[in-house]
Amino acid sequence: MSTPVMHETGSRPLDIAWVREQFPSLKTEVSGKPAAFLDGPAGTQVPRQVMDAIQQYLLQANANTYGAFLTSRRTNEMILDIRAAMADFFNCSPEEVIFSQNMTTVTLGLARSIGRELKPGDEIVVTTLDHDANVGPWRALEEKGIVVRQVDISESDCTLDLDDLRAKITSKTKLVAVGYASNMVGTINPVGQITKMAHDAGALMFIDAVHYAPHGLIDVKTLDCDFLVCSPYKFFGPHMGTLYGKKEHLERFKPYKVRPATNVSPECWETGTQVHELIAGIGAAVDYIAELGKRCDSTATTRREALAAAYRTTVPYERTLLMRLLDGLKSLPGVMIYGITDRARFGERCATVSFRIGDHNPIKIAEFLGDRGIFTWDGNFYALNLSERLGVEQKGGVLRVGIVHYNTTDEIDRLIAALREFCNQV
Ligand SMILES: Cc1ncc(COP(=O)(O)O)c(C=O)c1O
Repeated sequence: MSTPVMHETGSRPLDIAWVREQFPSLKTEVSGKPAAFLDGPAGTQVPRQVMDAIQQYLLQANANTYGAFLTSRRTNEMILDIRAAMADFFNCSPEEVIFSQNMTTVTLGLARSIGRELKPGDEIVVTTLDHDANVGPWRALEEKGIVVRQVDISESDCTLDLDDLRAKITSKTKLVAVGYASNMVGTINPVGQITKMAHDAGALMFIDAVHYAPHGLIDVKTLDCDFLVCSPYKFFGPHMGTLYGKKEHLERFKPYKVRPATNVSPECWETGTQVHELIAGIGAAVDYIAELGKRCDSTATTRREALAAAYRTTVPYERTLLMRLLDGLKSLPGVMIYGITDRARFGERCATVSFRIGDHNPIKIAEFLGDRGIFTWDGNFYALNLSERLGVEQKGGVLRVGIVHYNTTDEIDRLIAALREFCNQV
């Protein structure tokens, strides 16, 4: 078992023992050793509250919407409640929240709808740093004559090349699609500043916050972005996607939909029957984060304040683990870390670290660690442009370690010890 660590961070210490008790799956063992879930960027574990909410929905409210009977009415109410929870999460109005199967599906649908209004020669800006789900859906519009411009990175620290971005946003730009944080190297992009650049050029701003959501508070009002997407399964919820869209845009753009389905936003954007039980789980994930926040700061009264309090505590906690991880990696022979490593710049990154060890194929390292109960990922994680740009795509990509607030210093130490063992063996 990992040693519980009390960590001085926010108004009150992060009670890591309490956090870990909320996540039953963290007790998983591999050959008698505790599992270390460092695979969060591909999907986090879920607290008991999320499992309970899914079960309660199936027990008490399982029905389709808008029927003239109890369970259907309960379903309608539940969806409204969870829209309100996600509105607190995004800092928007409930009618600006859309549920979907996942981020990729909702982005493909939205891109197609926005594409309806574009004409050949109009331009969209994407980036080399992004997951392909924030590139492919926009590139699909190239078949309509839309020109897609791709912003490069600065290779030394894997940050966006803002000069290149500035040059690529012109009067022809209709939309800028940028990730909030990179799911491969952890870089946090200055999305508020980029939104202003997009708006100054008369373009819409679309933010992929899938990777950022477990690592920082999202505030679409302050960002002033037009759209923002994230996936609850990356922030302790079930496998689904959610989209924030400014009300005016959700009402103006036309979704692809079937005739009997409502024309009223936001429901007109939610194609077919939704996975209601998982929507119920999303609300519980938001409430779990808020509960954590209230434990860290008892003065937090609203759910939004409690969410902010949670991140005020988890962000510095994750940073101490990040520092330990980077120090450990730097002590190993032949390690090449991609992205920001200077602790003075930790505000520009989250605790997701990708690296290679010499010429070893990352899958070999992931297998070695997996056998020892340490779960990491190898490959490109669909950040294909970045993997190609860094020249690692043909070599198995990178090994990715993702830290979230339920991870511990013990787990980082175990990982480093196992990597040292790997280096000594090969
Ligand atoms: C940054 C980022 N964007 C988009 C996606 C795609 O999300 P989904 O699996 O919900 O389609 C992922 C998934 O890993 C991601 O990390």
